[in-house]
Amino acid sequence: MITGACFNYNKPIDHPNITIKYTNTTPLQTILLDPDVHFVITNDSLEDCLLKEKNVLTTLVITEKLKNLATEKGVTITNQLDILIENVNKNLENKKLRVYDSNIDNAVKELYKKMRTNQTVASVTKMRQKYGNLTTPMKIWDCIDKLGDFIDISDPDVELPNLVHLFQTAEGIRGDGHPDWLQLTGFIHDLGKVIYLRGSDNDGTSVKEQYNIVGDTFVVGCRLPEKIVYPEFNKLNKDVDNSIYRTKYGIYRANCGLDNCLVAYGHDEYLYQVLVKNKGVKLPPEALYIIRYHSLYPWHTENEYSHLESSYDKNMKPKVVQFNSYDLYTKENTNYTEKQLKELREYYSRLIKKYLPETLYW
Ligand SMILES: [Fe+2]
Ligand SMILES: [Fe+2]
Repeated sequence: MITGACFNYNKPIDHPNITIKYTNTTPLQTILLDPDVHFVITNDSLEDCLLKEKNVLTTLVITEKLKNLATEKGVTITNQLDILIENVNKNLENKKLRVYDSNIDNAVKELYKKMRTNQTVASVTKMRQKYGNLTTPMKIWDCIDKLGDFIDISDPDVELPNLVHLFQTAEGIRGDGHPDWLQLTGFIHDLGKVIYLRGSDNDGTSVKEQYNIVGDTFVVGCRLPEKIVYPEFNKLNKDVDNSIYRTKYGIYRANCGLDNCLVAYGHDEYLYQVLVKNKGVKLPPEALYIIRYHSLYPWHTENEYSHLESSYDKNMKPKVVQFNSYDLYTKENTNYTEKQLKELREYYSRLIKKYLPETLYW
């Protein structure tokens, strides 16, 4: 059972697995310290104090600011409570995913060890420069087909080619009636893994060495988070002895925003750069943002980095969390039939045509 509290929010909720305490009188602090309270819904602008509280697993804040921002940007905001219910339902019907325990293939652990050791301020800067130089034209469908040859070592939940994962994510989003740009975001979100086509073992950008392509990301240039998969590898990071990089803020200013941070390099950043640097990309900013930060689990799932995120990042977080539920919970080790694949290709070709040029530079 998931329990939450509501402040100045009087929409009734009827769900077998969620209970809510409605309160306008109990002090917020008391509620937050209650270990049974997993989220808080409020109409007041309390984001800051909410996000700092460790006892809150999921914070749902519906503020005027968020509503105004949505209107200004011309996007529809989904009721945050609906997102929670959706996620709870998905969690319930799903087996446990992302369990990194001793049964996991050694390759996953090795991948994370290499990633944590080698991703540093210097390496991320180098990778951004090197792979941000886009020279090779390639059609989207050719990239998608090439992704069929790439299996993500870091993912303990699926052994299917990434091509199938893209279809499954997009179809989950489409099935729940979300807008077509979000469906397309789901379809292309992992396309940055084609970096392996121009990568090398030395750079960790090949099929064999994937530590600069996949895995949960983190911010470099400041202290590594404790809430991250395999935190025991943090001490291996090559930046760990730097007297500035090992501090809480490191090289950053308070709430400078994620776009001013160096995030561990991988398929997220590569595809983001491809979409920003190519002409004719018509996806909305939310799509680019989701693509860029979907692997930043310590931020979107563990609330690390609230001291670095800007108000824009805070507002975008629920969208990334929502997207993440499709990225995770649509994974099935079943394949599509030929007929289904043909239909999917036709449908997503139309979306690609609407939002992307046929050929992109990679
Ligand atoms: Fe991904
Ligand atoms: Fe994915």
